[in-house]
Amino acid sequence: MSSAALRISASPDSGPAMFNDTSSPLSLLLSRRSGKPRDMVSPGPDATQMDAILAAATRVPDHGKLAPWRFVTVGADQRDALSALLVEAYRAEKPDAGRLELEAMDQFARQAPALVVALSSPKPESKIPAWEQELSVGAACMQLLNAVHAQGFVGGWLTGWPTYSDRVRDAFGSADERIAGFIFIGSPSRDLEERPRPLPADVISHWQR
Ligand SMILES: Cc1cc2nc3c(=O)[nH]c(=O)nc-3n(C[C@H](O)[C@H](O)[C@H](O)COP(=O)(O)O)c2cc1C
Repeated sequence: MSSAALRISASPDSGPAMFNDTSSPLSLLLSRRSGKPRDMVSPGPDATQMDAILAAATRVPDHGKLAPWRFVTVGADQRDALSALLVEAYRAEKPDAGRLELEAMDQFARQAPALVVALSSPKPESKIPAWEQELSVGAACMQLLNAVHAQGFVGGWLTGWPTYSDRVRDAFGSADERIAGFIFIGSPSRDLEERPRPLPADVISHWQR
């Protein structure tokens, strides 16, 4: 396991004493922290670790056993092609795009050692509501991230412009599918920092009739 993902937070008051603490399943969940894809460096997961990450992502709540999701890995040898795809799609949809916007597409495509594109792949013929199928996609992405962090890496779930481009979607899936996100995976090159979290009292209540 890479120790790079285990970083002490700046202040004990600002979050867990350690991010992505793998000493127990619960400590991992309570200290989970995503990485910033643009700060991710090698090592990323090897083939065996990636297989485990993807297997975990398929072991999620799924009403009706529909598997309304799927995952497409983008290898290091495909990053030039991904960059070209994003730049072409952006240009096609925004003919007046400036250099900086196109560079942002290129940079997006080249982040982090490993990348998984998660797709929502609904089964419209099923009686299970589309909403429930979409919830399962979110669960799959979360479980993928948990497996990433359990192996000492960091993950980052991004959407951004490429997620909502039909041209980009068509390069990964069919017209009835949607990109749920680009999940970048690697090791952090800088310390992780806590982000504001909701106060438990603001989001948790005890139902009484
Ligand atoms: C569907 C979805 C899309 C997201 N897209 C972005 C994004 O495009 N850019 C970004 O900075 N964070 C995005 N985030 C947030 C990060 O993935 C991450 O959750 C956030 O930085 C909080 O970090 P944490 O995972 O450690 O709580 C997205 C989250 C979700 C659930």
